[in-house]
Amino acid sequence: KPKNSSLVTRCEIGDSLEEFLAKATSDKGLIRVLMCMGEALRTIAFKVRTASCGGTACVNSFGDEQLAVDMLANNLLFEALTYSHFCKYACSEEVPELQDMGGPTEGGFSVAFDPLDGSSIVDTNFSVGTIFGVWPGDKLTGVTGRDQVAAAMGVYGPRTTYVLALKDYPGTHEFLLLDEGKWQHVKETTEIGEGKLFSPGNLRATFDNLINYYVKEKYTLRYTGGMVPDVNQIIVKEKGIFTNVISPSSKAKLRLLFEVAPLGFLVEKAGGYSSDGYQSVLDKEIINLDDRTQVAYGSKNEIIRFEETLYGKS
Ligand code: AHG
Ligand code: MN
Ligand code: MN
Ligand code: MN
Repeated sequence: KPKNSSLVTRCEIGDSLEEFLAKATSDKGLIRVLMCMGEALRTIAFKVRTASCGGTACVNSFGDEQLAVDMLANNLLFEALTYSHFCKYACSEEVPELQDMGGPTEGGFSVAFDPLDGSSIVDTNFSVGTIFGVWPGDKLTGVTGRDQVAAAMGVYGPRTTYVLALKDYPGTHEFLLLDEGKWQHVKETTEIGEGKLFSPGNLRATFDNLINYYVKEKYTLRYTGGMVPDVNQIIVKEKGIFTNVISPSSKAKLRLLFEVAPLGFLVEKAGGYSSDGYQSVLDKEIINLDDRTQVAYGSKNEIIRFEETLYGKS
């Protein structure tokens, strides 16, 4: 009988999160925020496994049913940001008003987050996640997604990962949570190329000619209903397109500040493109904390085709 000595027991060893951040930025405050958020993600990953996904009997201001786990994750993230001492304002999908976290404006950051993305699929045991964006100073409105200094997501699936990108450092980087609680650098994405992978959010609003194209070209359909895993697959597989479009009878659901802009930052730092139908989602001004938008993320050619198919833009 052959011995299983070749069985790989864990991923290849890369830098720890601390080592990576020390190389990626000299901003001690930003390192502090990203480390503290990493601690919160680790706790949320652990809680998601067993916490009740029953409702809190509340509906948030976006009209979403609020689950106990949504609020558990929400509170852990606000605590982490207070503890970082470098967060000026924070706000979240569940609390979409600026909360003063006590950090400085000068040298500090403001953070917007979706504490738990995919709360309606926790009970089906699909992957869920956390999304956040980090802006310099004290402004989360009158700014754009391009003004972010960092953005990240936590992915709670068979593995727990922390996927992050920094403004002044190339690539989007994936860290794996090891058994001993450390984050280990396992992947860097700098290019998103061609590949027939289609992840269609809000399909009921999607234009027939868009769907017909993917069917005709025999794309692989892979959609979970959680934007975090759906967009994460594009970054990890380095191909494909995710869409969540609107129609006259189906309004935008996804929130520009809490979801769309941070994921846009991750996709574009990974070498991909994004669009609201007309322009990169990173160029959209965030006018109100609760702004919503349609969105597509993917490779350059996919996004060009998306815009042309929707509005005939060339
Ligand atoms: P959240 O769970 O944070 O409220 O967001 C869920 C979002 C997003 O992850 C997903 O793409 C979209 O809702 C799916 O919505 P529908 O199932 O209503 O199409
Ligand atoms: Mn919600
Ligand atoms: Mn969400
Ligand atoms: Mn959410």
